[in-house]
Amino acid sequence: MAYQNLIVETSNHVTLIRLNRPDALNALNMELLGELGRALAEAQANDKVRCIVLTGSEKAFAAGADIKMMAEKSFVEVFAGDLFTNEEKAILKTRKPIIAAVAGYALGGGCELAMMCDFIIAADTARFGQPEVNLGVMAGMGGTQRLTRLVGRAKAMDMNLTGRFMDAEEAERAGLVSRVVPARKLMDEAMAAAQKIAEKSMITVMAIKEAVHRAEEMPLSEGVLFERRLFHALFATEDQKEGMRAFVEKREPQFRDR
Ligand code: CAA
Repeated sequence: MAYQNLIVETSNHVTLIRLNRPDALNALNMELLGELGRALAEAQANDKVRCIVLTGSEKAFAAGADIKMMAEKSFVEVFAGDLFTNEEKAILKTRKPIIAAVAGYALGGGCELAMMCDFIIAADTARFGQPEVNLGVMAGMGGTQRLTRLVGRAKAMDMNLTGRFMDAEEAERAGLVSRVVPARKLMDEAMAAAQKIAEKSMITVMAIKEAVHRAEEMPLSEGVLFERRLFHALFATEDQKEGMRAFVEKREPQFRDR
């Protein structure tokens, strides 16, 4: 499928989606978000794809929702039209892992988009922020919710109330990103992580993704029970037999997603 706001490439079982609105620092308008939902659905449906990497440019992962698109909208338009609800759902329903590779600005909706991914690898140039307060609004795609779960109340309040940006080092310390790498190595690191995931059993990978996300939704005892039942269920797969036998036989496993 042809995209106007994305560059999408699939190779070696990994789909790389690059946000591509350079003139607007990848600001998220409805066209871009619609295309992103379609690209993710396509990657999800393609049996050859085992992991997805989402990135932007060197200057910006995404500088937020498109302010020019929103500036003159009324309450009725955004409320009745349920602005961003379906777009967010389209991203969250992807069951294959999505790694966000973030360089430069990840602000507002850009930070929120990165947080919708399963984990974030940041370049040392990355800047995260929820500056919506400067526009007379507040975060609208998870910036008060996912950020609070990821970094805790103190930093989430600070970021959302003052609108200040967090650099990559602080983001790693706070638990927003899983690792920070030199900007020139960002894509190599992200693609290598995706490749590692692509070598695993897809069944196991999808179960892990689901279980970790449930941790944010459930009390601990329910979450652990959910995890344990999925762990038990994986014993019904050929990949569990293969994985454990390969360990015992001191060889590499050959997973077949069964
Ligand atoms: N929406 C629309 N256009 C944007 C944009 C955005 N979020 N961010 C940047 N752009 C555009 C600029 O308007 C500019 O376009 P023109 O050349 O046509 O004027 C172009 O991108 C380059 O931007 P700057 O000239 O501003 O670049 P800079 O290097 O001087 O500054 C920046 C970079 C600090 C990221 C600055 O662009 C900025 O502050 N952007 C807005 C960040 C923001 O407020 N994001 C939150 C948006 S609201 C939101 O996301 C709601 C939500 O939670 C769902």
